[in-house]
Amino acid sequence: MTAALNNKNILLGVSGGIAAYKSAEIVRRLQDLGATVRVVMTDGACEFITPLTLQALSGYPVHRQLLDEQAEAGMGHIELARWADLLLIAPATADIIAELAQGSAANLLTAVALATPAQVAVAPAMNQQMWAHAASQANIAALTERGVAVLGPDQGLQACGDVGPGRLLAPERIAAACCQLFSRGALQGVRVVITAGPTREAIDPVRYISNHSSGKMGYALAAAAVEAGASVTLISGPVDLPTPARAQRVDVESALQMHRAALEHAADCELFIAAAAVADYRPANCAEQKIKKQGEQMALALVKNPDIVAAVTTAFPQLCAIGFAAETEQLEQYARGKLAAKGLTAIVANNVGRSDIGFNSDDNEVTVYTSERSLTFDKRGKGQLARDLIDHFAQLLAAR
Ligand code: CTP
Repeated sequence: MTAALNNKNILLGVSGGIAAYKSAEIVRRLQDLGATVRVVMTDGACEFITPLTLQALSGYPVHRQLLDEQAEAGMGHIELARWADLLLIAPATADIIAELAQGSAANLLTAVALATPAQVAVAPAMNQQMWAHAASQANIAALTERGVAVLGPDQGLQACGDVGPGRLLAPERIAAACCQLFSRGALQGVRVVITAGPTREAIDPVRYISNHSSGKMGYALAAAAVEAGASVTLISGPVDLPTPARAQRVDVESALQMHRAALEHAADCELFIAAAAVADYRPANCAEQKIKKQGEQMALALVKNPDIVAAVTTAFPQLCAIGFAAETEQLEQYARGKLAAKGLTAIVANNVGRSDIGFNSDDNEVTVYTSERSLTFDKRGKGQLARDLIDHFAQLLAAR
C-alpha cells in the first residue's frame, strides 16, 4: 500500500468534536501514503486542536473562514474545492453531517463540500446515542444516497464514558479507506444483487419458522463488493447488522418477499449472489389469530417455498449467479448437485457441521466449485474471505 496516494490532493475537513485531536495523525498517515494534504477547520475544531499544529504538519496554511479577503486572494474556496481529489471530513460531527445533508454552505467547509466535484468522504465521530438517533441515521442515509463515502464509525469506549458505535475510525483505517476510494476495484461499475440473512415464515401473528443465519457472510460480501467498485443492492432478511456503507438495502421477511424482490432487482444486474439462508418450507396457512394450545401434539402443514436463485437464473440466464451450499456431509457431491440444479456459475460450499466456522462464527472456510474447477479458501475472517471471494467472482464474471 506504500505510496498508494501518490499525486493525490486530499483536503481534510476537521469539525469540532473531541476526536479532532486525531486529525494530526490522519494528516500524517495520508502523507505517509504519498498524499498532499491541506486542511480546512471549522471554528469548533479550533477549540480542540490549534490550526498551527495542522499547518505545521501539513506544510500549508490552514483554511478557516469563508469570508476572508486574504484567504480568498490566496486559494479561494472554489479553487480549494477544485484542487481536491478527495474531500475527507474527519472527524465529522453530527452537526456537520446534518449541514451536509441539508446542503448548507454556511461555513467554509460546507461551502467547499458543495462546490467540489471530487469524491466526499465523512468519518463520523459522536456520542453513540447521537449516532443512533433517527435524525443522524437519516442524514447519513441521505449522504450515502448521494455517493458520499461513510467511513466508520468504530465501536468502543467513548470520550464521554459511553460504549457503542460512534468512535472515529482509527487514522490508519481512514487512510486505508482513502486508498480504496482511489483504487479502481475489480467490480468497478458492475451492478450486484446479494441476498443475505434468514427468512421468517409466519405461523400466526406472533410466531414464525426461521434459522440461525446471522447474515454476516452476505453483509461482508456486500461491503467487499462496494469496496471493489460495484453498485450493490442487498436484499436482507431480518438480521442485527448495520447496512454496509453505500449499499442499497431492501428489507424483507419471508421467502416469498425475498423471491419477489430478487426477481425485481436481478433484472438489471450482472452478478447475483445468493447468500441468504432461505427457509425451504413455509406454513401452508398463516393463522389470522394467535393459535391457542390444544392437544398433546400438533401438526403444522408446510408447503415448499420457491427456489429464489433458481428462479433468477431461469429468468435471467445471462447473469453470473453464485450460490452457497451449507452442508454437514458429502460437501462436494451436494454442492455440485446444487450448482447444476440451480443453473449457477459457481457455488460456495461450507461445512456447517464444524463449530469453528459457518453460521454464527466470525470465521469461515469454503470451497468454490464451478463446473470445471474447485478452489479452496482456507479458514479466515469473514471480512477477508468476502474480499477474496469478490475478487474470485470478478474473475468468473470477466471470463463469461
Ligand atoms: N436458495 C434460494 N432459495 C431457496 C433455497 C435456497 O435461493 N428457496 C439458495 C441459497 O441462497 C443458497 C443455495 O440456494 O445460495 C443453496 O441453498 P441450500 O439451502 O443449501 O440448498 P437447498 O436447495 O435448500 O437444499 P437442501 O436444503 O436440501 O440442502
